[in-house]
Amino acid sequence: MREREALVKQTDDDLQARWNHPRWWVERLQADHPLHWQQLLEVAQKPAPMTLRVNRLHHTVPAYQQQLASIGVGAQAVGAQGLQLTRAMPVHQLPGFSEGHVSVQDAAAQVAAPLLLQGMENAKPWRILDACAAPGGKTGHLLELYPNAHVLALDVDASRCERIHQNLQRLGLQAEVLAADAGQPAKWWDGQAFDAILLDAPCTASGIVRRHPDVRWLRRPTDSGQLAKTQTALLKALWPLLVPGGRLLYCTCSVFKAEGDETVQAFLQSNTNALLHPSPGHLIPGQVSIGLPVEDNPLGEHDGFYYALLEKRLG
Ligand SMILES: C[S@@+](CC[C@H](N)C(=O)[O-])C[C@H]1O[C@@H](n2cnc3c(N)ncnc32)[C@H](O)[C@@H]1O
Repeated sequence: MREREALVKQTDDDLQARWNHPRWWVERLQADHPLHWQQLLEVAQKPAPMTLRVNRLHHTVPAYQQQLASIGVGAQAVGAQGLQLTRAMPVHQLPGFSEGHVSVQDAAAQVAAPLLLQGMENAKPWRILDACAAPGGKTGHLLELYPNAHVLALDVDASRCERIHQNLQRLGLQAEVLAADAGQPAKWWDGQAFDAILLDAPCTASGIVRRHPDVRWLRRPTDSGQLAKTQTALLKALWPLLVPGGRLLYCTCSVFKAEGDETVQAFLQSNTNALLHPSPGHLIPGQVSIGLPVEDNPLGEHDGFYYALLEKRLG
């Protein structure tokens, strides 16, 4: 008791003890996000909210919010199609869940499909590649918005492809699902260019640590650099598959710059036919953040993500 003050100061001065994250992780956040690193670490200690994506083929957001209210469940509208629940609940208690009326998807993840497809006429049979698709959260969203699109959903992990099938079946939507390595198109591509590509690349998941609290302790300091190499290789392999004038949305659920801005800036330097559209960049978890038209589209309490929308120049 007599030494309490000194001992508390000692632990408070120790980054790992103070923030319950490995020291290297805290130092990386300090370097990457000098203004937001404390917020990032604070959010990582709290429970994540449960957010739904309302399937607009079935309901408007206010109509589903009303259905929830009628069974005593409070929810706040977030983003274009999201409802953040005041408390988490089992999915089978959600009205119409088995019939695909809603899906569970964080508000930041719900940014992907509309950002990739914005301005594309939605009746056309666009060819869309979802390159790292399992378990199919974003595949389902793409098809809810553009049911006439032909979506090829790839994942290198065959067992995870099964989850894409299950998700699409629940939503009553169809895609071509293939277990294949997106980094080796020669093995699966039929040579027809895609109008849009979603590359939701494998990453450290540093933006969703509150949903997977063990991730911070399982990762090694070198993982981010290794994954950045994989992400760069995937970008490089998929870019030639895009039609001139087409778009590729690169995203990760990481807040480390090595897997976001740095990967994309390096790609832009070596690919002069790539144009970076205004897009959110790094979404800092827990707040409405940087780059989004926040007044029109507040995301509420969301995960950490990175988004870069690239367009292939014509000619
Ligand atoms: C972030 S998750 C995708 C989440 C998914 N887009 C969603 O919204 O539900 C990344 C996925 O990439 C897959 N993956 C990793 N390397 C791959 C590769 N070379 N080719 C295709 N898929 C890959 C993993 O198996 C994993 O399912």
